[in-house]
Amino acid sequence: MCGIIAAASTRNVGKLLVQGLHKMEYRGYDSAGIALHQNESIAHLRALGKVQLLENKMIAEKPKSKLGIAHTRWATHGEPSEINAHPHKSKDSVYIVHNGIIENYVDLRESLIGYGYEFSSQTDSELIAHLLDLHMNEGNSMLDAMYLAKEKLEGAYAIAAIDIKDNTNLVVARNKSPLLIGLGTDEMFAASDPLAIAQMTNDFIFLEDGDVAEISANSYKIFDSSKKEVTREVTHIDISNQATSKGDYRHFMEKEIYEQPEAVSNTIDGRIGGEDVLDNIFGLGSSDLFAKVKRIQIVACGTSLHAGRVAANWFSSIAELPCQIDYASEYRYRNPHVDDDSLIITISQSGETADTLAALSYAKEKNYLASLAICNVPTSSLARESDFVLFTNAGPEIGVASTKAFTTQLAALMLLALSLAKSKDLNPKLRGRITNALRLLPEIISESLLQKEQIVAIAPSIANKDNALFLGRGIFYPIAKEGALKLKEISYIHAEAYPAGELKHGPLALIDENMPVIALAPESEIAEKLISNLEEVKARGGTLYVFADPSVKMDVKAGELVHMPKCDFFLTPIVYNIPLQILSYEVALLRGTDIDQPRNLAKSVTVE
Ligand code: F6R
Repeated sequence: MCGIIAAASTRNVGKLLVQGLHKMEYRGYDSAGIALHQNESIAHLRALGKVQLLENKMIAEKPKSKLGIAHTRWATHGEPSEINAHPHKSKDSVYIVHNGIIENYVDLRESLIGYGYEFSSQTDSELIAHLLDLHMNEGNSMLDAMYLAKEKLEGAYAIAAIDIKDNTNLVVARNKSPLLIGLGTDEMFAASDPLAIAQMTNDFIFLEDGDVAEISANSYKIFDSSKKEVTREVTHIDISNQATSKGDYRHFMEKEIYEQPEAVSNTIDGRIGGEDVLDNIFGLGSSDLFAKVKRIQIVACGTSLHAGRVAANWFSSIAELPCQIDYASEYRYRNPHVDDDSLIITISQSGETADTLAALSYAKEKNYLASLAICNVPTSSLARESDFVLFTNAGPEIGVASTKAFTTQLAALMLLALSLAKSKDLNPKLRGRITNALRLLPEIISESLLQKEQIVAIAPSIANKDNALFLGRGIFYPIAKEGALKLKEISYIHAEAYPAGELKHGPLALIDENMPVIALAPESEIAEKLISNLEEVKARGGTLYVFADPSVKMDVKAGELVHMPKCDFFLTPIVYNIPLQILSYEVALLRGTDIDQPRNLAKSVTVE
């Protein structure tokens, strides 16, 4: 998704801004641009495609500047093109970068055309530059013009702006789209993502909705929505270079797959003790609150939603609680009925997913007991806006396709199932069994990573197909869905998932030698039924790739049977997901796709 970086410094900022754009490449984008104040003029460079192309232009033109704004764009309004790339400008004087969506852009655009402004792009963002120019021409400072513009703008935005008449200050504004200030020595930054400026500073101020700030190399002033000057807390975060570089791995996704044993240890560490989960790990008072919970509602998107689907089964089996689950983008629109004593749970790696934040904000108006978030980013909006939070502690996830975030979300959700059961004094023996199994989980994940060779051998027979079917039953159906999502997003192979028992009700018609079928066959009470479903596939010429418990001795003929390490039944979904991640990665590698930044996708989806 779009990324903003801005700098005011006593040194040249061009290189720093481009460096910051590179750090945000993982978010997904289609074009990049920069505007650098050069006293008499503003250097304005944009490029369709990779940040490297923008950097090449910078190397050719060598603009020098101590004040600038830069952007990576992920198209929403208007195709990916140089003309639509940010920064946008008004009459060579006001330059802006914008993340988010201006919902009333059609009306505002028309009214600005009425004032004589000409639009050069198809974006909803360009009008912000004209709106600022309009109000500055009325005699307002950039700061005052931003407030006047804010009165008109509807939707989500993070904005950074500079003006030809001021070579010292930049102005930023935030509403429902992340934006922070980075405090350096003799320099200040603004960015939508701390990773963009982590090499320059570890001290950040996370702006709140409605905030506007004026920033120069040696000072910053923050004003709230009522234009009152405010002090916001400075947060110190060490983002190590190791966490944000690929090391010896070919892709961030590969690194993140193989980091999973450590990531899961970090999720569990300090949260279990003896034969149980520790009290209040979701925040002070959480254990008492859990005792009152009678129902659960989960909202999330994509991979995080799949984690929720697995957890819904755990909540029911371990904590004896009914659980409803919704796509965050749909939840608000189905007029949900909220029973008394319901807990709303949001799950999000980034904590900035607009659909999930909007669902939470809607839920806050309902009579939920409390809101609880499972999140990987401590400084995120979701973490700040929820009553209770458990951080997954997976470390920065850079690959667009979620891997370690998913695995650690599952570990965190298991901690939640155990905590709910403990608060209700339910199933102590089962809690003890699962707690002990959780301790062994990192080791079992390490074992499952050793299956790489067998999976590398399978990959070519899937890489040359256009479709694939993933099958799982019960708690493994969401894992099959996650496997299909991973394969389609990074290899562009069309993949679907079904509960195996549903095959005969329609999808069986798709089975032929061109439809590889990837199935999950753990030891379970329905293992035999699943094997029968797979026999139906085999009988129709389908090629089977089965990830199975060692007790499964099936003849898969042309396909492959991969035996999985044993672990407690409740944790097997976490373990069976690992080979599916490796398979998607190896298939995408053979197809030569852009694995860390798949086409059309973004890491943190900050628009609804
Ligand atoms: C898929 C993937 C996405 C995200 C989804 C939600 O690999 O990463 O489906 O899971 O966009 O993102 P978060 O978890 O940040 O809310």
